[in-house]
Amino acid sequence: MTERLELYKCSVCSNVVEVTNEGVGVLVCCGQNMELLNENIADSSNAHYAIVENIDEITKNIRFNHVMTPEHHIEFIEVISNDGKYLKRKFLEEIEPAQLTFKCDCKEGFYVRLYCNRDGCWKTLV
Ligand SMILES: [Fe+2]
Repeated sequence: MTERLELYKCSVCSNVVEVTNEGVGVLVCCGQNMELLNENIADSSNAHYAIVENIDEITKNIRFNHVMTPEHHIEFIEVISNDGKYLKRKFLEEIEPAQLTFKCDCKEGFYVRLYCNRDGCWKTLV
């Protein structure tokens, strides 16, 4: 059984998939069950913590004090509304700054999630 927005990883080939429609089946890759990635909660002392700055009423900038090297980098950043209906994702190159500017007027609030190639999935509650 899967749930919408869950992330799964294949421990053989490193495929990462995100669920958009829930189902009763088990996700399989390379002949074995994929692993559900835990959402670790980042606090402000952690490099995976999202620093959110308000640019204007609806425009926000998110950045991370995280290294961006071929060996260790953030692969993507997601902004997800608390009701799960709105999602914005940015895929990052290994050498570009870990940041995202977006517009969001979601009244229900949002959280930020990222996937780090070395440390897995991290979530910042905003
Ligand atoms: Fe990391």
